Amino acid sequence: MPDDFERMWSDLAPVGRSATSGGYFRQPFTAPERELADWFREQARARGLALDSDATGNLVAWWDPDGGIVPDVLAVDPPDSVSQRQGLSRTGGVLTGSHLDSVLDGGAYDGPLGVVSALAAVDELRERGVVPARPIGVSVFVEEEGSRFGLACLGSRLASGAIEWEKARGLRDRDGVAFEEVVEGGGPGLLDGVEMFVELHVEQGRDLVDRGAAVGVASEIWPHGRYRFDFRGEANHAGTTRMEDRVDPMLTYAMTALAANKQARLAGERATFGRVEVTPNGTNAVPSQVLAWLDARCSSEAALGELVETVTRQATERAERDGTAVEVTAESVSDAVTFDPALAARIAADHESGDWPVIPTAAGHDAGILAAQGIPTAMLFVRNPTGVSHSPAETASIPDCLAGVHALAETLERLAT
Ligand code: GLV
Ligand code: MN
Ligand code: MN
Repeated sequence: MPDDFERMWSDLAPVGRSATSGGYFRQPFTAPERELADWFREQARARGLALDSDATGNLVAWWDPDGGIVPDVLAVDPPDSVSQRQGLSRTGGVLTGSHLDSVLDGGAYDGPLGVVSALAAVDELRERGVVPARPIGVSVFVEEEGSRFGLACLGSRLASGAIEWEKARGLRDRDGVAFEEVVEGGGPGLLDGVEMFVELHVEQGRDLVDRGAAVGVASEIWPHGRYRFDFRGEANHAGTTRMEDRVDPMLTYAMTALAANKQARLAGERATFGRVEVTPNGTNAVPSQVLAWLDARCSSEAALGELVETVTRQATERAERDGTAVEVTAESVSDAVTFDPALAARIAADHESGDWPVIPTAAGHDAGILAAQGIPTAMLFVRNPTGVSHSPAETASIPDCLAGVHALAETLERLAT
């Protein structure tokens, strides 16, 4: 008898948790995140699911209805290999899952809720004796948050062909470690045969709270991007340098952060500077350089372009006054994603509790990557009473999580039978 939702959830609770903040540090290919990947393999094995993986470390555990319970040889420990896939049918596969990595000091739910719910939904279907006509896979994509190598959804981008290995291999983490030093490679293959993807995710806002609904369906993802601002000035003594003699990039950065906030407010969009690296980062020195990352998200691609252009222009104007220099690099830009409306409607309609609300989000997801690569994709959201996410305060109640599991099981039943 596999572990139920609450048991699985409590298994994961201590992994990578900070004793100070209560938040999670589950950065890709660090010990806590690897422990979670091992846990997933163990859960797959306990259920007799066939474990598949790629050189990037993305995982899929398949429930092949023809095989029912797969032979032990397929549910094996790493290293997995393509040869293990032989004889395993994934054609017409319905994939569900999410990610196990977190942002720095993140919440428990962003990612793991989708993985644990997917396993629990498979259990529910099996307990109910449902025999799907299509294989159902439970997926875990690596580095969804981009918290280590800077590019969000790196695992799903590689698996779906949205980015090539040649472009990804040189990405470096904050310690200078290259992506290619921690993974063997990357490229399509793992998702061959997948015809649909459904990602269940904790809601990262309060829409469902306001609507009084435990579960919702995603309509779209706002276009969004990450932009590195490189402000350069001249290091100098904090005491002896007269204020009018300074070339201080911190001032240019500070004004840029205020400008971004104001522009986003005026336009009803989102702009955040959440990461800054100061050189040399000393209390008694004017800095020589400030690197700052803008995360911008807008309701349309045109608005995103306009917002970033305006912030860049204001940064440049201020740099002229400060005598500093500024250079802006778009590190990643993701276009708007509209989830398959017919699929969303099919999932949302005709439930005992009425129709589930269909709502947009400004958060990025692996589901957005797969959708953009042409795989019909849907998302389910589970109510988050605080609406807070990417923070230890992110939460969801157990009854709502169980409602999410049931909603996902119903959805898989609709799509796979
Ligand atoms: C991922 O959660 C993102 O929206 O940045
Ligand atoms: Mn997520
Ligand atoms: Mn996230």
